[in-house]
Amino acid sequence: MKKFALFLTLFVVSVFSVGCQPQTAEEPPVLETETYLRFIHLQSKENQPSLCALIQHEEKTVLIDGGWDEAQSKYYLIGYLHAIGVGKIDYLISTHAHADHTGGLAEVINRFDVEKLYLCHTNVWIIGPPSILQIDIDAYENMLSAAQSKVNSDGSKVTVCTPAVEGMRVTLDEETYFDIYNCTDLQGDNYVGQEVNHLSLQIHFVSGSASALIGGDALNSSDCYLLGNVGEVDVYGVQHHGTAFPYSSAELLQELKPKYSVASGPSWAVDGDTRARCEQYGEFYVTGESGTLVFAKKDGAFVPA
Ligand SMILES: [Fe+2]
Ligand SMILES: [Zn+2]
Repeated sequence: MKKFALFLTLFVVSVFSVGCQPQTAEEPPVLETETYLRFIHLQSKENQPSLCALIQHEEKTVLIDGGWDEAQSKYYLIGYLHAIGVGKIDYLISTHAHADHTGGLAEVINRFDVEKLYLCHTNVWIIGPPSILQIDIDAYENMLSAAQSKVNSDGSKVTVCTPAVEGMRVTLDEETYFDIYNCTDLQGDNYVGQEVNHLSLQIHFVSGSASALIGGDALNSSDCYLLGNVGEVDVYGVQHHGTAFPYSSAELLQELKPKYSVASGPSWAVDGDTRARCEQYGEFYVTGESGTLVFAKKDGAFVPA
């Protein structure tokens, strides 16, 4: 635990008012390798869970979700990204249309150049599942309109794409890629579930022998194409903030055997059985307890930075 860089204690983001450029008071620590995975802890007003994960591989940046549309959350994220030197988001992934994941992304798109935005099958939720709320619809539509109206500094537009249900691979270099799993219980284009979390994308990042799975809010029915293909990982971004089964099933964990599991959110959201299933294989962390967690690729594996 002590090995982790706790960025919340290392620099302070000062936000003067909505719309102002966030300022950072201290420089973040210099890290040694070229590949990092960060779980950025974003605090919400009511201590609700949220997800934001960042992969940096040499010059490439992959941002997965962006927390809530709340000033203290989204401006903290903007400040954090500036502080660690992110100038452009090459791949922005919105796992699913829940406001604890998409809320901060319109601001990210407004502030940073974004090459590609990946979305899950959201064309059905607007007419479908009862679990969707206006706050989720607003967050999604704000993100989408920000992407559609964005003009990057080189004049290019954001490419918006939806991976196939079977998933897709994005290659960064000869030994580095990520697969985006979009395996839902969609039948054709008709969503048959009642829960938007079924739609959540999951991201399997591989760099040589180092690997991680960011589980988003997916649950066991969404693991279909992933099981048997992912194998063991160093780091597991725990599905749905660590809540109870059908998230983080025994079957999934048996395949992943994660050395480090990270639940994004407050500790009240973490289920004891889920934690125990993860701890069978390695260490378990909660960002609400430890703050932002940083892993670096060293000697062919992700380890706490
Ligand atoms: Fe969530
Ligand atoms: Zn969700």
